[in-house]
Amino acid sequence: MKRRQFLLTLGGLPVIGSLVYAAIAKSKSEKTSTNYPAEATPNSNGSLINEPLLRFAAIADNGVGSSDQYAVANAMSQTYQKQPFLFVLMAGDNIYSYGEINSVKAYFEEPYAALLSQNVKFYAVLGNHDIIKTNNGLDQINYKPFNMSDRYYSFTKGIGEKGIKGIIEFFALDTNDNASWQQQLAWLDLQLTNSTTPWKIVYGHHPLYSSGRHGGDPQLAAKLAPIFAKHKVPLYLCGHDHGYERFVPIAGTTYIVNGGGGAPLYRFGKSDKTAFVSSQFSFMTFDVYEDKIITKAIATDGKVFDQSVITKNI
Ligand SMILES: [Fe+2]
Repeated sequence: MKRRQFLLTLGGLPVIGSLVYAAIAKSKSEKTSTNYPAEATPNSNGSLINEPLLRFAAIADNGVGSSDQYAVANAMSQTYQKQPFLFVLMAGDNIYSYGEINSVKAYFEEPYAALLSQNVKFYAVLGNHDIIKTNNGLDQINYKPFNMSDRYYSFTKGIGEKGIKGIIEFFALDTNDNASWQQQLAWLDLQLTNSTTPWKIVYGHHPLYSSGRHGGDPQLAAKLAPIFAKHKVPLYLCGHDHGYERFVPIAGTTYIVNGGGGAPLYRFGKSDKTAFVSSQFSFMTFDVYEDKIITKAIATDGKVFDQSVITKNI
């Protein structure tokens, strides 16, 4: 079946017509608390909006222990108070400069203490800094709060009470040069083939496309883009370039560089595929509905500076 995907930039809150699933998403593995009301709630103009099926957040290039990392972390906590998210994707360079696990307290546990105390889980992948001068990132894989079952892995969220098998399956990649690429690509292709969730999101540290200092990676794109196209992956999240850039869908996939988690920012240009670019300290949230995902890029003042809607039609 042919699917079309649209990416729209919205200025206001989404108005969702109906929900197919129960509005309270639960994960079997997490005994998720009921963060989201089942009832539709009134918008400021009196119209009804429905809460998302689930909400998650994302950061990258954060593990530096700087005041900028704390500024982002504090904004995440403040956002969490108003719009709770269940978990955070952490897309690499989790511990600067060389992935030393003995820095995890200062660069992870303390900055995100408020979220961790609320049982917000983080799901990490390895960035290039995470494997330098250490045992190739193994300490981070073995560090339980990073929730990495392996160098690359998948996990499903939104398992509900009414026979729902899950809303999103995430595919967390090791995009480093020394990754087991042949095995990983075969695994990704097979996992995507077997996935039964309506949404499938892939994330890794390195961008396929970027207008930042590092730029895009044609070799990485040659590896991953055909698999994304084959399986109609709607979203790939990454970091590595320290700033924010969202692209218009490329062959059906929206690519977002989300590397403003705390490490010093890079200067960004733009390309003809750039939908929005801003090099600033930031994080993202994703409101997941049955038929769309609302993406929000949020600055350290808590304000949304870019918002988009990924819609899929299957
Ligand atoms: Fe990096």
